[in-house]
Amino acid sequence: MSIQLDTSGLDSFKTEIAEASSLEELYNVKVKYLGKKGLISGLNKQLGKLPPEERKDAGQRIGALRAEFEEHHDARESTLKQEEKSRKLESEFIDITMPGVPFKGGGIHPVTRVYDEIVDIFTSMGFEVALGPEVESDFYNFEALNIPKEHPARDMQDTFYIGEEVLMRTHTSPVQVRTMLKEKPPVKIIAPGKVYRCDSDVTHTPMFHQVEGLLVDDKTTFGDLKGTLTVFIKRMFGDDVPVRFRPSFFPFTEPSAEVDMGCVICGGKGCRVCSHTGWLEILGSGMVDPEVYKHVGYDPEGCRGYAFGMGIERIAMLKYGIDDLRLFFENNLKFLKQF
Ligand code: DAH
Repeated sequence: MSIQLDTSGLDSFKTEIAEASSLEELYNVKVKYLGKKGLISGLNKQLGKLPPEERKDAGQRIGALRAEFEEHHDARESTLKQEEKSRKLESEFIDITMPGVPFKGGGIHPVTRVYDEIVDIFTSMGFEVALGPEVESDFYNFEALNIPKEHPARDMQDTFYIGEEVLMRTHTSPVQVRTMLKEKPPVKIIAPGKVYRCDSDVTHTPMFHQVEGLLVDDKTTFGDLKGTLTVFIKRMFGDDVPVRFRPSFFPFTEPSAEVDMGCVICGGKGCRVCSHTGWLEILGSGMVDPEVYKHVGYDPEGCRGYAFGMGIERIAMLKYGIDDLRLFFENNLKFLKQF
């Protein structure tokens, strides 16, 4: 009796290949048939048991079976690979026509806003911007501005001293001195920047901003000063706001005046902010004192000029109705977002 090659259990590989729904499933089918212990590989073991004359024929049948398996397998494999690629392309598709993620822009800090606005107003009137160092010497900050050694402004509680003669500038007025030492009249500058004072409460912070103004030629009058500052205040706060000049004292100006404007909170009726006077003080000013001219080598007889100085935070507080100066420096986004 001749022994036959037993190929039972092999008729279903085509269906199994066709039904493999992923490369992994297909691989498992391949292992089942062509793996070391696979059903087709196993047929080789039967060869030895066959009569020698049938071996060649059986070997060819095994080879053909293997080839047939591989043909079906490879076709299915390429279909599955193609499907997988399409799936991937679909899931990774980028619709470039979709709107982008909204971009949250930052805002300009209210102090910077007012700083820029002040600079704009004065430069439009012909003033040039001059800058000076924040670490100053006693000479520029005090001496040349006619602030004598025993003046209260030099008291340790106001000034941050770095050395005997070196300090953090307490105002932007030293830029006046620096400008006049560098340039001959006419000069017409504003000097914005940071200033420092050893002070902290609802209306004071150790660092704040000022703008200094200086105009010197040979004919400027107090009337010019009044006109310039009145125009500035009206451009900053509106044409209807009343402005008044009140006699005052500064060591570097003579005569000196403080400038008030009608209270923007109560409209002049009187409230807590204006201490029930209806007026808010916003500027210091005056005609440049001849003593200052002497310190910078200008001829006191031939020079006429005015100077003024203001706190930027104070103007920002009044413009935006902010009652605590410290809010400007706390970087609370809920506060800053309102501008
Ligand atoms: N330097 C003064 C201050 O810090 C402000 C000031 C007042 C500046 C009058 C001036 C001026 O130029 O004329 O308070």
